[in-house]
Amino acid sequence: MTAHVLVFGNEKGGTGKSTAAMHVIAALLDQGLRVGCMDLDLRQGTLSRYIENRSQSQRLLKSPDHIRILEDNGHFQDAFERLQQAEDVIVIDTPGYDSPLGKLAHSLADTLITPINDSFIDLDVLARVDGESLTIKAPSHYAETVWQQRQQKMLRQKGGTIDWIVMRNRLSHLDARNKRDMEGLLEALSKRIGCRIVPGFGERVIYRELFLKGLTMMDMKGEELSMSHLAARQEVRTLLEAMNLPCLK
Ligand SMILES: Nc1ncnc2c1ncn2[C@@H]1O[C@H](COP(=O)(O)OP(=O)(O)OP(=O)(O)O)[C@@H](O)[C@H]1O
Ligand SMILES: [Mg+2]
Repeated sequence: MTAHVLVFGNEKGGTGKSTAAMHVIAALLDQGLRVGCMDLDLRQGTLSRYIENRSQSQRLLKSPDHIRILEDNGHFQDAFERLQQAEDVIVIDTPGYDSPLGKLAHSLADTLITPINDSFIDLDVLARVDGESLTIKAPSHYAETVWQQRQQKMLRQKGGTIDWIVMRNRLSHLDARNKRDMEGLLEALSKRIGCRIVPGFGERVIYRELFLKGLTMMDMKGEELSMSHLAARQEVRTLLEAMNLPCLK
């Protein structure tokens, strides 16, 4: 069986793609799966930096087979094919801007995960919203990109589909009104653009404080775990379940 391809994408920058990718990678490793990953963010390379930090840890940690792509020179395809044969899952982190490699990765996705912050600005890259009636007027550029890449995939792999998951990130307990408005809009959006909305991550320091150690709360044990770690761990597990990965069935 070839590897399941999990792509983290959103043309909007800073929505939590690399953070979510790293946490999902740690959760997949924790499940005993073989994980390959690719970082297509040529400039920032956040996921690569995270994994570099992980490799320097004193702890005994499971690590993914990671490939950082430094230029768009055809190396991607070879590396992808190698991982496809060797791993159970390939996790691809894409940059927060439109790029040819990013597009190609979208067209290879079995599952596409798009984190968005609970903000109308983030929603704007997916759909135009009528500010008066709070209804969806039309899909916008990123949703159109995904639509095109779905067509590409369908042509290449006869009948191939992309399961598109939009996850809300950095949810806060405050702001009940905005949260409700977003919920209604996302519900309408999911029907319009063909995505699933799944529960995502709360706004928690724990999602950023372990970066320098290359760790996630999935790697911590026993008394190291606070209530907040446990809550975050549950959020990551819930996301993993929502993905319905064939290799975890
Ligand atoms: N759930 C969360 N709670 C707290 N902080 C978060 C959470 N998710 C992400 N962050 C923080 O938000 C910022 C952006 O996250 P990240 O770098 O993962 O986004 P990105 O989509 O990969 O960005 P880019 O488009 O630039 O690649 C980082 O400072 C990260 O630590
Ligand atoms: Mg990133």
